[in-house]
Amino acid sequence: MATISFARGVPAPECLPVEQLADCARTALERDGRTVLSYGPSPGYAPLREWLAERHGVDVGRVFVTNGSLQGFVFLAQRLAAGKRVLVEKPTYDRPLKILRELGADIVGLHCDEEGLDPDALQHALREGEQPAFLYLIPTFQNPSGRTLSEERRARIVELAREHDLLVLEDDPYGLVRFEGEPLPSLLELSGGETAYSSSFSKTIAPGLRVGWFVLPEALAREIELTATSTYITPVLLGQATVHEFVTRGHFEPNLERVRDLIGQRRDAMLAALDRELPNVRTTRPDGGYFLWVELAGVDAADLLGRAEEAGVTFVKGTDFGGEPDTLRLAYSFVSVDEIADGVGRLAAALPAAV
Ligand SMILES: Cc1ncc(COP(=O)(O)O)c(C=O)c1O
Repeated sequence: MATISFARGVPAPECLPVEQLADCARTALERDGRTVLSYGPSPGYAPLREWLAERHGVDVGRVFVTNGSLQGFVFLAQRLAAGKRVLVEKPTYDRPLKILRELGADIVGLHCDEEGLDPDALQHALREGEQPAFLYLIPTFQNPSGRTLSEERRARIVELAREHDLLVLEDDPYGLVRFEGEPLPSLLELSGGETAYSSSFSKTIAPGLRVGWFVLPEALAREIELTATSTYITPVLLGQATVHEFVTRGHFEPNLERVRDLIGQRRDAMLAALDRELPNVRTTRPDGGYFLWVELAGVDAADLLGRAEEAGVTFVKGTDFGGEPDTLRLAYSFVSVDEIADGVGRLAAALPAAV
C-alpha cells in the first residue's frame, strides 16, 4: 500500500504548465540568450524586475528577484536577524524557523486565532524587551494554518509597525491561489509601500523554476544585493526570463485560473472527507492556499503520526511549526481527489475512537 502524503506542500503535477514553459524557455534563450546564459545583475533579470515593479507600483530599485523566495529570506535573515529578537506567528512556516534558529535569533511566537495574528500580542511584544529585527508573517492562507488575517487587523498591524519603527516582512506566496471570496489588501498596500513584501511564482507557475521576489526598502535591497553577489553571483536568469516570457505572452492569468480550479477541487475533497470521517475534529476552512490546520483536542499528534504512517497516510505535526502538541497540518495540494478521500479515511482509522 503506497503512503498517501498530506505532508507535501507541493502543487499537483497537473498544475505545472510544462508545454507552455518549454516554449517560453526556448523563446527566452533565442531572444536573449547572451544575457540569460551569462553572469548578470544579482537583483535579477531586468525585464522581470520591471514587470514586478509595475505590478506593485514601486520603484524598480526596491524589487529583488531570487532563486525562490526562501533564498531571499535567508539573505534577509543573515543580514538582520543573527542573535536578534524576531517576531513570528505561532504557528508559522517551519523553514524560516529553522533558518532563524541556526542564526541564533531569539524567536518570539505571537498568539494567533481564527483571524490570524493577534495585534494585542504584537503590541505586548513591542512593549517588552529589545527592538525586534523584524516581524515575519504570512497574512493570507497561512502556512501552516490556512488562516487569513482580517482587514481590520492588517490595518492595526501596519499602524503598530509605524508607531514602533518595526520592519514587517509579509510573505505572500499563496494570496493569488484563492478559490473564493474577495482578495484583501496586502500590508504593503495598506502601508503605502512602507512594509517589506515577498512572493513567489512557485505556487502560481512552478516551484522548479525557483523564481521568488522581494519588495524591500531601497537601502535594504542594496544590502541584500551584496549578500546575493557573494553567495551566488547571479540568480538563475534563465528561470526568470522564462517567467517573463510566460507573463508577457498573457499565460499568467489563465494558468492561475486553472491552478485555482485544480487546487480548489482538492480543498473541497478534503473538507468533505473530514466532515464525513471526522465530524468532531476542529479544522480551519481556508478560502485558498495549500493547507488546513487540525486541532485534536488533547490527542498527541506525534503519537498519531506513528499510527497514521502504519495505516498509510502522513502529515506534519504542529510542533514542527511551533504549534501545540495536539495540532497538525494537512496539505491537500499534491494528492488526487481520490487519494484525499482514502487518506482521510486512513487518518480517521488511526485516531482513538473517542475523537
Ligand atoms: C509561506 C511560504 N513562504 C515561502 C515559501 C518558499 O517558496 P519558494 O519556492 O519561492 O522558495 C513557501 C513554500 O512552501 C511557503 O509556504
